[in-house]
Amino acid sequence: MAQIAIMGYGTVGAGVFKTLTMNEEAITRRVGEKVSVKRVLDLRDFPGDPAENILTHNFEDILNDPEISVVVETMGGLKPSYPFTKQLLEAGKSVCTSNKELVAEHGVELREIAKAHSVNYLFEASCGGGIPIIRVLNTSLTAEEIEEVTGILNGTTNYILTSMAEEEKEFDVALKEAQQKGYAELHPEADVEGWDACRKIAILSSLAYGKHIGWNGVPTEGITKVDRTDIDYAKALGCRIKLLATSRREENGIWALVAPMMIGKENPLTAVDGVMNAVMVKGNAVGTTMYYGSGAGSLPTASAVCGDVIDCVKSAGTTIRTEYSTENLTLLPVDEVPRPFFVRMKGGEKEAEAAFGPVSHVTKLPGAEGEIGFITGVMPEKEFKKCLTAAEGVISWYRRGKKEEEA
Ligand code: HSE
Repeated sequence: MAQIAIMGYGTVGAGVFKTLTMNEEAITRRVGEKVSVKRVLDLRDFPGDPAENILTHNFEDILNDPEISVVVETMGGLKPSYPFTKQLLEAGKSVCTSNKELVAEHGVELREIAKAHSVNYLFEASCGGGIPIIRVLNTSLTAEEIEEVTGILNGTTNYILTSMAEEEKEFDVALKEAQQKGYAELHPEADVEGWDACRKIAILSSLAYGKHIGWNGVPTEGITKVDRTDIDYAKALGCRIKLLATSRREENGIWALVAPMMIGKENPLTAVDGVMNAVMVKGNAVGTTMYYGSGAGSLPTASAVCGDVIDCVKSAGTTIRTEYSTENLTLLPVDEVPRPFFVRMKGGEKEAEAAFGPVSHVTKLPGAEGEIGFITGVMPEKEFKKCLTAAEGVISWYRRGKKEEEA
């Protein structure tokens, strides 16, 4: 029997306990032995909960228990998860986590410590909830030069944008619902300001391109400025506004970006709604591939954690190899990236063309008098921003998706 512990009995930690219990038979069959939760660490008490009798408030009960070989870290944040994870790996225990903040901040170091102690630090649940995207990058696509990773990587913001577009809900109402459903971070700024998606694209891009990409080097914009009229313009243009996290290989390097973008119906990411996430990975041999599933929530995220736990049990005594060096990769500035832009501004087509050059898809919305929305020509972002600074009456603007740039 393999004995494990869970640190942090919140949405995901409780989901891990439930999944291991609910699927005990299938897991035992696949692992060849039972995977049993010996300890659950949390500051709180859970009277009446099935984990009540194995609950501890003392980390040492896990650290010093030689029978516990794998620990699930679902505490979130950096403190105390970072020192705890370090100590556990140094003590020869594998750690599986959903904690994208910790992976993005200290993942390189923790993976090195794991390697030095012949254990594993696995983090499938840190990106895209239940989507097994990290395994895809670590195993299935290892014959590829990855050219691009683009995804909807945050369930909360996708839920909010979908509710605003499809059900005409207000931002705050939709956010509250996402919190009630267990999708949002403890501090939901991490979701709505784009930081969570930023950490996830930094992790995925590091795996895809083979060098460490620091999350704080990724230009990041959230969805707090998206308003209902912007969404109406998007609809009128046959588009959707989605928070995309993207990175792409160019001839001279790699750039990455997290921002709300206006994407057309021909882009399959427009169809990804609610809490669902999707990631498109383009390889130079395979072309574009796409992965879809629940991006947040208790059981989907727990499923990814449990998959890692099973891998750790099955590969006891060895570190699973991943192609990801500790070398840092400096990103190219996104300023150079050419694309069309959507602009909403006061005035008419004459003012638009005076500020941005030839424009297309000029749209007027009933109820939004005295303003228009339009699409600019393809131009590097720095050129667009120069026009933006000189223009008067701009209300909002969005980058258009890649498909339109190619069209
Ligand atoms: N708050 C995150 C999200 C949880 O909404 O995607 C899953 O990482």
